[in-house]
Amino acid sequence: MKSLTTANNRNSNAILVVKDIAVNRSGKLILKDINLTIERGEFVGLVGPNGSGKSTLMLTILGILKSHRGSVSIFGHQPQASLLYGKIGWVSQAASNLPKDVRLTVRELVQLGTVNGKNMFRFADGGRKEQVDRAIKMVALEDVQHIDIARLSGGQRQRAVIARALASKAEFILLDEPLVGIDRDARNSLLKLLDGLCHNEGKTILMVSHDLAAIRQTAHRMVFLEETIRFDGDTEDFPDLVELADLRGIGPVHGLAHAIHKEEE
Ligand SMILES: Nc1ncnc2c1ncn2[C@@H]1O[C@H](COP(=O)(O)OP(=O)(O)O)[C@@H](O)[C@H]1O
Ligand SMILES: [Mg+2]
Repeated sequence: MKSLTTANNRNSNAILVVKDIAVNRSGKLILKDINLTIERGEFVGLVGPNGSGKSTLMLTILGILKSHRGSVSIFGHQPQASLLYGKIGWVSQAASNLPKDVRLTVRELVQLGTVNGKNMFRFADGGRKEQVDRAIKMVALEDVQHIDIARLSGGQRQRAVIARALASKAEFILLDEPLVGIDRDARNSLLKLLDGLCHNEGKTILMVSHDLAAIRQTAHRMVFLEETIRFDGDTEDFPDLVELADLRGIGPVHGLAHAIHKEEE
């Protein structure tokens, strides 16, 4: 925990600083003593068993849930400050993320990323068209941009949602289980895309996944969460399952392996 404290104090290039937060939901303590600093350009994988509080932490970072102690600061502001608009991209499971009753083409969906309170009624100025073109190209969906999103595969749909975040010029992209429901090839191309966003575009990424193998393959840094942060460090130092079981203070390893390696859908 010592190195964490140091990282929190340094925070020169920090995009996210979570200090000592605790979060209750329906009167039950879900997260406690959470300290997490993320610097610009990092790709951080957030892992942990089902129900360990990963989504709760994401929602707290986004300002949707409130911590009852400690503080969260993104780009030096409190979550949901109007200044943050467009700087943060949020991607959850594609299936639950997209409107089911609205007919929308891929391009229209991506365009929505460029809409904010200020330009809502000024359609298609030049800069925004370029932004949309670029975002669609980055996720390689040019060929299907005029197709209804309902007709896309899971992997394509997930890329479309990421393009929406990219079109908004979000610098910090948070993804909650983006790999669920997409096949292996689509998963690999998605991971490659995210990796490229960090390395070539200077984006910062925090991605939740219970797919340990997939996340290890891409993230530079891993955070293991179960009520509190039990590991935070370089991916190559991420403990094996036996050590993880020790961190969690439990005996049988099979239960853990089962819990964090949910079968691929
Ligand atoms: N709306 C809610 N009210 C009360 N408890 C909740 C609510 N949503 C989730 N929880 C509980 O919070 C814990 C963490 O959930 P969650 O953050 O969704 O975990 P994860 O994303 O790691 O699977 C679980 O025990 C879950 O049952
Ligand atoms: Mg979750």
